Amino acid sequence: MRLLQISPLKQLLTHSRFLLTLRSEQGKYHSLILFRLSLDNATADTPSKMLEKAANRQIYVMESTCPHLGADMSHAEIEEYEESTVAVCPWHRYDFDLRTGKSETGLRTCTYSVEVKLEDETEKVYIETPSDGTNWRLIELRPVSEEFADPPPAPSQPIVQVNPVILSEPTEPVVPLTDAPRTLMQWAVLILNTAHPTLKVLRTRHAVQLFRTGQLDSIGHKSSTAPRPPDVPPREDSYLQNTVNPGKMKGRKNLAVMLHALANIEQWAIDLAWDIMARFGPSHPDLPPAFFSDFTKMALDESKHFSLLTSRLSATSPSTPYGTMPVHASLWESATITSHSLRSRLAIIHLVHEARGLDVNPGTIERFRRAGDTGSVSVMEIIHADEVTHVTSGHRWFTWLCERQGGLDPVATFREEVRKGWRGNVKGPFNIDDREKAGLTPAFYEHLTGEMDEEEMREKIGGVAGVEDLNLAEPMAKVSIKYDA
Ligand code: FES
Repeated sequence: MRLLQISPLKQLLTHSRFLLTLRSEQGKYHSLILFRLSLDNATADTPSKMLEKAANRQIYVMESTCPHLGADMSHAEIEEYEESTVAVCPWHRYDFDLRTGKSETGLRTCTYSVEVKLEDETEKVYIETPSDGTNWRLIELRPVSEEFADPPPAPSQPIVQVNPVILSEPTEPVVPLTDAPRTLMQWAVLILNTAHPTLKVLRTRHAVQLFRTGQLDSIGHKSSTAPRPPDVPPREDSYLQNTVNPGKMKGRKNLAVMLHALANIEQWAIDLAWDIMARFGPSHPDLPPAFFSDFTKMALDESKHFSLLTSRLSATSPSTPYGTMPVHASLWESATITSHSLRSRLAIIHLVHEARGLDVNPGTIERFRRAGDTGSVSVMEIIHADEVTHVTSGHRWFTWLCERQGGLDPVATFREEVRKGWRGNVKGPFNIDDREKAGLTPAFYEHLTGEMDEEEMREKIGGVAGVEDLNLAEPMAKVSIKYDA
């Protein structure tokens, strides 16, 4: 049995559930869920006590998706019986023994042995690696959410403690009073059609929570009546009035401008996460639930980023809250250009645009640091760590798609997609370490140039209702703060 060290035990005492992403040297992914059942967080002072406590800590690891129909197990209920402890799937309540993975229904999920070893007087947690690959590497280890913080938040505390800045109260309820969505696809389209940024954030939180806890157990992408997403998500009139050519913003690099521009990008990023599900789910009925788990997580992360940034903006520049400065829609150009193909969408949005974010974020963080704005530094560090996982998701589903489409070579296919769907060089300097963590080796992006010419690009984004309203007069306008710093 091969073991992989995942963390010092101490770092697993902050929460009772963690999500782990592993990648093999062959490029295979496994998403696992770690449950830590023991409430005993006291530190041990002698090596023998440490081991004794480790044995009592009851750490279990299993696949994070249910083998029945693929529900996300991160919010499974844990039930303890005399002989066994089981995780109960939130969708159809099949139970899976945490040790053996067996369910009374006859299904079985994969579980992975856990060992806690004492090394250099530190307890370190190791897990067994999956058998369908070699040289497994831990790509991500993160708490499922604040709900599973240890000690748990007091009941009066909100689950997500960052509240969006409310510029104007949304006039609609989070759940529509008539025709409330009954599937994930319906929620996705509702959120895409929600112009008010605060309501978009609240609906995203609500829908993801319903999906994770099994209160929404239908994705709906295989249905012939799945709703269509809008070509361009609407924005409130006040935001449209402020929409200008981002070129005019050049040179205005003060901190408030940066925070405003970053928040605008995150608002579009919420839409991009919902759009990939709503637009390509129905045309790819073979997409497994894990795809939707990854992109709902991304939507939730982006809404958290938007809230964090708008809160920082209000705190540091009360006279210019979100919505008072010019914004642009250049990220949506690439969404429009790639609206015909999931492969192209994953390549251009998630492996070019988002990967560029990994390159420039450290510079942005440094600028806030130099200005003494430690609050924004912390916010940007959270965003950066999340974005590594978003590029990982892009790489995971791009390689999955290549495999499904006849075993295409991911590197060659990616380069071909960029050649067709991008204009100009894929620019460095590159954050090689974080790109590599996310699965992007230099072979993907080095010496790569998009060959789409201007006419072709105009043709692709032309004729899409709503694009003109967003003032995409400069079709290849740069996202001046985040991606082109
Ligand atoms: S019991 Fe888990 S998806 Fe049905």
